[in-house]
Amino acid sequence: MNVRGLYADQLDAGFLTDDFFQDPYSFYRTLHEHAPVYRSEKANAWLVCPFAEVEDALRNPRLLSSGRIASSAARLPENVKIANATLLTCMNNMMSFRDPPDHTRLRRLVSKAFTANSVAKLESEIELIVNELLDNVAGEDSFDLVTTLSFDLPALVICRLLGIPRDRLREVKRWADGVVSFVSSGIMTPDNAHTARLAVNEAGHYLDDLLVQRRAYPQEDVLTKLALAEGAGDALDRDELVAMVILLFFAGFETTEGLIGNATIALLRNRDQFMELRQHPHLIDQVVEECLRYDNSIHRQSRVASCDVEFCGQVIPRGELIFLMIGAANRDPTKFRNPDQFNAHRDDLTNVSFGQGIHFCLGAPLARLETKVALRSLAMRMPNLKLLGPEPRFGSLLAVRKPEAVWVTR
Ligand code: HEM
Repeated sequence: MNVRGLYADQLDAGFLTDDFFQDPYSFYRTLHEHAPVYRSEKANAWLVCPFAEVEDALRNPRLLSSGRIASSAARLPENVKIANATLLTCMNNMMSFRDPPDHTRLRRLVSKAFTANSVAKLESEIELIVNELLDNVAGEDSFDLVTTLSFDLPALVICRLLGIPRDRLREVKRWADGVVSFVSSGIMTPDNAHTARLAVNEAGHYLDDLLVQRRAYPQEDVLTKLALAEGAGDALDRDELVAMVILLFFAGFETTEGLIGNATIALLRNRDQFMELRQHPHLIDQVVEECLRYDNSIHRQSRVASCDVEFCGQVIPRGELIFLMIGAANRDPTKFRNPDQFNAHRDDLTNVSFGQGIHFCLGAPLARLETKVALRSLAMRMPNLKLLGPEPRFGSLLAVRKPEAVWVTR
């Protein structure tokens, strides 16, 4: 297929390579210029990049969330699909991969715990956690921001909200990593399916025990609410319950970890804005919004077309898998002036980083708050903070962009 002078296979040659994962924005520039909508044979999916189209598509009820897992797993050999049936069932039970009315029922059960009001009450607790984590490197001249702060902060907060004991943090993190490596990859493989299945099985056994305890001894946490909702006839069965908790921890960890890492890199590369934040802490909300636009941790969401749909004059046939390229949309030159420039003062400060419509990120207030407290604390406590070599490297997941390490000196 010829897309404005470039063949899809030429485009595919640059997609999902190490160069792409280290700097997806060069590839997105090419797509905006030559192929804002194209079918990637490599990923077996259509990529949609323009901001307006991505924003509309995220709200479009004809683009389905159920069927996303089956479509993404379509190229896995049949025996691998059979061996990983429990994993695929668990994923299909998550509200992210459901449409109304099931999606509505599942989301209603947890939405209260994550409203802006409920989350705002956590600010001082999050500040305490950030201070505790930064105190751990008080005597160090240089440290890795990921192992020091961005890796642990979201995990500690989501475990505290769910009611998972702190001493199980490493295991929960390992399970979340296992699931993310499967759902967030550009191409699902037998290996990442196997890792994710082990993670889901282990997490399921652990959660079964914890839920029994919560039913017997209710606590002020999300797990107790879910455990009691199941008994109260809210039609949440055991598998949906376990899937919900696994979704909450995988959706809540890596995403915020990635945003804090990406945001710190962006701010330190634009030192004037880091220093400005120190002098004017009230700018923090707009700094966080620009970090979300400039280098968000989520770069793709997928949907399945329930009928033929048209984007930019290109018809995508019914049944096809569509990748809505959030990371590209946030750098669309027809939407943003100087899209590749980090500028917390821009008057076109907006993004599609948390999605749109009924699947709009449940954890957006929490992610914003954690990032705000983390960046503000770094600016206040470490005015001389600078990036140290080597250049941060990013993992090879299509959906989640996060640095493996961010070495800094204070
Ligand atoms: C920077 C951090 C985060 C980013 C960029 C992010 C991004 C997103 C996006 C783009 C979606 C939409 C999915 C779709 O349209 O299919 C989403 C959904 C979701 N997010 Fe987040 N997220 C973040 C943090 C969190 C946190 C901390 C939680 C913890 C509760 C969370 C929980 C969820 C859940 C449960 C959904 C599914 C909502 C639904 O299907 O109704 N996210 N997120």
